[in-house]
Amino acid sequence: MTKLSKKDVLQAGQFTPADLDLILERAATYEAALASGKALDELRGRILATLFFEPSTRTRLSFEAAMQRLGGRVLSVSEAKSTSASKGETLHDTIRTVDGYADAIVIRHPEIGAAEVAARATSKPVLNAGDGSGEHPTQSLLDLYTIRKEQGRVDGLTVALVGDLKHGRTVHSLATLLSRFKVSFLFVAPQALRMPPEVIARVRANGASFRETDDLGRALAESDVAYMTRIQRERFADPAEYDRLKDAYVLTRAGMAKAKASITVMHPLPRVNEIATDVDDLPGAAYFRQSANGVPVRMALLALLID
Ligand code: NCD
Repeated sequence: MTKLSKKDVLQAGQFTPADLDLILERAATYEAALASGKALDELRGRILATLFFEPSTRTRLSFEAAMQRLGGRVLSVSEAKSTSASKGETLHDTIRTVDGYADAIVIRHPEIGAAEVAARATSKPVLNAGDGSGEHPTQSLLDLYTIRKEQGRVDGLTVALVGDLKHGRTVHSLATLLSRFKVSFLFVAPQALRMPPEVIARVRANGASFRETDDLGRALAESDVAYMTRIQRERFADPAEYDRLKDAYVLTRAGMAKAKASITVMHPLPRVNEIATDVDDLPGAAYFRQSANGVPVRMALLALLID
């Protein structure tokens, strides 16, 4: 029996306060165990399948590291063309098949809602590792974990989400999750890449305050956290539109002069040019610490979801 309120992780809005407490506390325990070099074996004998029908470095490898750090094993598909999906098999049938091989399934897929389809095809836990421009709930958990660790709290913070807010699944999930806390948002995007209405509606329904702007410099001056994102080239129908918007925001060390001294700079990665490399050695540049936090957070999810 799963220790969380649902068998799957599909959307950032699904977690109860008790779920969040369990996940974050367990992740902190695992982070300490990893740091001390202690070997863990809670998932020994268990198998995780990772099915990635879109490119990934961090999400797939950190899920696989998480499973192996808990003593489990991994079956991995990293390219859609290597599966029978390329022969016309439906996602439902692929998942029914993998159900027979693994104890939990992590899926990344280009279509919004694909993880829900997968979850209905199996009684095993399904974890959404990104469904097109929909959601990326496990990323939002590691983002929450990172913010709490870097800033020492979540309530009372001003958080700027910057870049491609229209297509970016990480910011859709993060806005949803953080709006449950006493956070003030600045949604910083060009007019054409603003936060979608359905995400704004969720943020409103949760009672969080937000402002929309296209001015990164002014947003930095007020923000405790600046969460930069990549312009999502693969979601643009028109390459000329991508070219017009691709350099919308570039955070440089010189530009950081406008920011609060205590600012935390985050990015789900991969970066293209949104953060200049001369920002990397500033103390507040947390994006590589953030990606490392993916391991203990995903260990917590796997341990809590797999029987
Ligand atoms: C992101 C994704 O795949 O949505 N990467 C990640 O999982 N860390 C962000 C992106 O691709 O821009």
